[in-house]
Amino acid sequence: MIRKATYEDLPELMEVFGKAREIMRASGNMNQWNDGYPSEEIVRKDIEKGVSYVLFEDDSKIIATMAFIPGPDPTYAKIYDGEWLDDSPYHVIHRIAAAEPGNNAAYRLLAWAFTQTECIRIDTHKDNIIMQHILDKQEFTHCGMIYLANGDPREAYQMKIKANKYKALYNLAKCYFEGEDDLIANMANLSAMLHRKFGFWWTGFYRVVGEQLVLGPFQGPTACTKIAYGKGVCGSAWKRGETIVVPDVEEFPGHIACSSESQSEIVVPVWRNGRIVAVLDIDSEKLGTFTETDKVWLERIVELI
Ligand code: SME
Repeated sequence: MIRKATYEDLPELMEVFGKAREIMRASGNMNQWNDGYPSEEIVRKDIEKGVSYVLFEDDSKIIATMAFIPGPDPTYAKIYDGEWLDDSPYHVIHRIAAAEPGNNAAYRLLAWAFTQTECIRIDTHKDNIIMQHILDKQEFTHCGMIYLANGDPREAYQMKIKANKYKALYNLAKCYFEGEDDLIANMANLSAMLHRKFGFWWTGFYRVVGEQLVLGPFQGPTACTKIAYGKGVCGSAWKRGETIVVPDVEEFPGHIACSSESQSEIVVPVWRNGRIVAVLDIDSEKLGTFTETDKVWLERIVELI
């Protein structure tokens, strides 16, 4: 399990960093963190800022830690021998450390981080083969070289989590839909794929039937069955003929609340032979879930069905 670190964790955290240093030395990484980094002061600051996280076992023993920090990071402003994938907003992971080798702790911390952000940047020492292996396995892209404030070079990596997930889903969807032209069957499978992959609150379709939208295949709690042309986010996306991203449903005039849990939403029209035949509607119970990344990929994916 993962939680934010507290000041009471400080002594245990310093022990974890000590053990992580031993693991580094045993694997031939002789120089990273050899100056006592990270100091107690740095770790205390992380806790103060609420960016220090711990992975703990049932007996509440801390087995790993990391600082998970919203960017931008000044040391990443310049990159050498390469370039970042893009300059979209990102989180940074610093000071990731496990108390024991081979307990998958880093993977568990990363898996949690992947649920919190769309994009992660991270750097590691050229001799930290263990970390480089983990980053490769998790499909981070090696982007180039950055320099720390003290002048030390580090290998720089970036991962676009949401885009990677959509890419995988796109390829899967392509296989499913290539041999199937029944729109409802494909809507049903696409709702299931998106819902399971991203864990959205509600994922589904409204079909154009005459002058209104009628509920189609979906995943999630029960929903309103009919929506008039131009009404709500769904009816508006149909009328405008374009995707609508709603960061906060309270701010969208005329939003139809099928559930009070829904906080943000995206609606993507589905076109066939030059006219809209349905809309894909996705709701999230968090604010601001959907961005340009969702828009671009969902538009591409609905073209497949
Ligand atoms: N919120 C939508 C209605 C559909 S439900 O969210 C499933 C709207 O305003 O059109």
